[in-house]
Amino acid sequence: MFAELSSDDRAKYVAAKRAVEFVEDGMRLGLGTGSTAAWMVRCLSERVQKEGLRIQGVPTSTRTAILARELGLEVITLDEAGRLDITIDGTDEFDANLNLIKGGGGALLQEKIVASASDKMIVIADFDKCVTHLGQFPLPIEVLGFGLKSSQDQIASLLAAHDVAGRDITMRMAGNAPFVTDEGNYILDLHLDQISNPAKLAFALNQVPGVVENGLFINICDLVVLGASDGTLEEYSKN
Ligand code: 5RP
Repeated sequence: MFAELSSDDRAKYVAAKRAVEFVEDGMRLGLGTGSTAAWMVRCLSERVQKEGLRIQGVPTSTRTAILARELGLEVITLDEAGRLDITIDGTDEFDANLNLIKGGGGALLQEKIVASASDKMIVIADFDKCVTHLGQFPLPIEVLGFGLKSSQDQIASLLAAHDVAGRDITMRMAGNAPFVTDEGNYILDLHLDQISNPAKLAFALNQVPGVVENGLFINICDLVVLGASDGTLEEYSKN
């Protein structure tokens, strides 16, 4: 099967397969969103079927919930689960401090809530996601529809006071209509190119009325598992 995959999928698959090795019988897991996280759901389902592992999963999006159920995983809500053992998710970027930009798939709100409710967050990615400075990937901000223009203006003013290389803001679209998140909100993408102080910016963004959450994951990720298309792996942990 491995040889038939595209080189991108091979990298995602090996990272996902390694990450699910951390899963033990009886665990409650956060299930991330995106193409890499989808490989994790498949690998998890394989372990459940082969080893009879009993696990429960809290999906971070409708997409992931559908895939998990299709593959026979037991899906529960975060409120039913309480605290989670591990969340495994993809990322759009990560830096040397294991801080992340997430939300390329528009699921950052549920992803951050679920990861924050987990004892450990494992991020799976390919080598392209590793950056020296966060910000080349547009930073997604989930915002309420009410007063959207006002929130956007306040975000623009806030950016002027922060050390970022770019300041363009675009509305996330799905075809001709604005993209709507699972929670019924919108996404603004901030084209910052480089963020000098991600923690400071993350805090400031969440002070803007109408901002529901931002895609900077600061001090949440514990381990990054990087996969390459030749099947090799690298792991970066916080400690
Ligand atoms: C979704 C996310 C994804 O984890 C992120 O966009 C990476 O996706 P992919 O694995 O498809 O590259 O944050 O909101």
